[in-house]
Amino acid sequence: MRIPLSSPDITESEIQAVTSVLRTPRLSLGPKLEEFENSVAGYTGAAHAIAVNSGTSGLHLCIRALGIAEGDEVIVPSFAFIAVANAVRYERAIPVFVDVDSETLNLDPEKIEAAITPRTRAILVVHTFGRPADLSPIFSIARRRRLLVIEDACEAIGAEYEGRKVGPLGDAGVFGFYPNKQITTGEGGVIVTQSSQVAALARALRNQGRSNAGEWLEHGELGYNYRLSEINCALGIEQLKRLESILKRRDRVAREYHRRLSGNQELKLPPLDVPGRRISWFVYVVRLGARFTQQQRDWIWRAMASRGIGCGRYFAPIHWQPIYKSLAGPRQDLPNTEWSAARSLALPFFNNLKQAEIDEVCQTLQELMQAVPD
Ligand SMILES: Cc1ncc(COP(=O)(O)O)c(C=O)c1O
Repeated sequence: MRIPLSSPDITESEIQAVTSVLRTPRLSLGPKLEEFENSVAGYTGAAHAIAVNSGTSGLHLCIRALGIAEGDEVIVPSFAFIAVANAVRYERAIPVFVDVDSETLNLDPEKIEAAITPRTRAILVVHTFGRPADLSPIFSIARRRRLLVIEDACEAIGAEYEGRKVGPLGDAGVFGFYPNKQITTGEGGVIVTQSSQVAALARALRNQGRSNAGEWLEHGELGYNYRLSEINCALGIEQLKRLESILKRRDRVAREYHRRLSGNQELKLPPLDVPGRRISWFVYVVRLGARFTQQQRDWIWRAMASRGIGCGRYFAPIHWQPIYKSLAGPRQDLPNTEWSAARSLALPFFNNLKQAEIDEVCQTLQELMQAVPD
């Protein structure tokens, strides 16, 4: 794509940091891992940070470390990346889909209560597209109904809810560092938690179930190899140092899009500011107006691609995925999820997107909206 959907932003000093690890004898489980974990913990206000090899493995370890098991129900949004529900199913627990708020695209707290059953153990909250979910009412439901809260902050490092960084505010949370994210480690993720018990278990599970206190090769748990190498951690340490300036830059890109598109009555734009919250812009997702069908949205997506502009159709709801169609379990209607999924279009969004490129994306999108066949 001439103008891709996303593009990592890697500096020369970051390349140097990575190559200098390759000149040392420690390529895994070394000082860079510890430094990266300490940096993420310090930045987010978490007591513990455990680096893993993806956001998905981080979510899986949260489920395992919190004791969620076969037959337990976990409330999740369907308007989300598929790993959110997969991580629940890895442990034979059941994801129960709840609708999102039509404005924020985050879990609608008012719809959660109706989905709770005696088997519900947890609410898995996603900070969709980097916009913090409405945590206060979710925490109060969780307290009242004795449920755990897991924050999927894979798309939201640096986002704040009432002045506090999201991630470690619930029982456990996860950040993701795939190359399309605000900062990247190539592949990777970090679990954050205030609980030393959850942290110790997650740390052991990441490394084949080996406990810290145990002897070499003593495995107390059925664990995994979810380790993150020193090479990835070295990149993460350097990227994290630049996160604040990256977030400011992404905020400017979002405002540039808004300025150019806000006059178009047929587009629903993401809110630029939400009171009491700081958005960490992951992607810029517009929704086409009611006159557009899903097929027409797809036509626009293809036509943008044929002009060299990469767009995304975020999200295809999880309950529409073939692997989830046969899933047993209670299911609410999900009208906001389905409406938004059919009309959403993620526009090219990355740190170094140029003004002229934003102009071209906006102009092409609006031309195609007029040209779309019936
Ligand atoms: C909301 C959300 N959860 C989980 C993940 C999984 O992260 P990873 O791709 O690093 O496994 C992602 C994305 O990439 C995501 O966007």
